[in-house]
Amino acid sequence: MAEHITTLISEEKVTERIQQMADQISRDYEGQSVHLIGILKGSVFFVCELAKRLSIPVSMDFMSVSSYGSGTKSSGVVRLIKDLDDPIEGRNVIVAEDIIDSGRTLSYLMENLADRGPDTLRLCTLLDKPDRRVVDVKVDYTGFEIPDEFVVGYGLDYDQRYRNLPYIGVISFDE
Ligand code: IMP
Ligand code: MG
Repeated sequence: MAEHITTLISEEKVTERIQQMADQISRDYEGQSVHLIGILKGSVFFVCELAKRLSIPVSMDFMSVSSYGSGTKSSGVVRLIKDLDDPIEGRNVIVAEDIIDSGRTLSYLMENLADRGPDTLRLCTLLDKPDRRVVDVKVDYTGFEIPDEFVVGYGLDYDQRYRNLPYIGVISFDE
C-alpha cells in the first residue's frame, strides 16, 4: 500500500503561528514564569519551538501517555507511561500537546495534573480537530483548527514515522 503526503500547513505557516502563540503567552504571563509540560513524543517539536520564542522565564518537563495503537483510530484507553520528573505544585503550568482529537487523552491528563495543585493550569495545542471531539476539554491556546483528516509531521506520526517532517501533511493510502 503506497502512502502519499500532501502539505496541509507549510513550515513557514507553522513557525509564524507558533511565534504568535508564544507572544500571546508571554503577554498573558508577564512578570511571571511558566512551567511547560510537553506530552511525548508528538509535542516535542512544537514545545521546543514554542519555548524558544517565549520572553518570560521557562522551565520544562515531559510526560508520556498512550491513547493510540499503531493505526489511525483512538483506542479510548489512556495509559501513563512516563510521569513528570518534578512536582508542579504552586507553578504556572502550561501543557503543550500536538493535537486534540477525541479529547480523551487531554481530559484524563488535565484532571490528573489539576489534582497535583498547580497555581494555574492551561492547555496549549498546535492542532485541534474539533469535529472529532468525544470528551469536552477546555483549550486555552490553539495553533490551527483542522478538518477530520489524519495528519503527520511536526512531531505527529503514522506508526512512528514522519514525525520529522518540518510541515504538517495529510497522509493518504492507495492500494
Ligand atoms: P485524543 O485522545 O483522541 O484526543 O488523541 C490525541 C492523540 O492522538 C494525539 O496526542 C496524537 O498522538 C494522536 N492523534 C490524533 N489525531 C492524530 C493525527 O491526525 N495524526 C497523528 N496522531 C494523531
Ligand atoms: Mg500524542
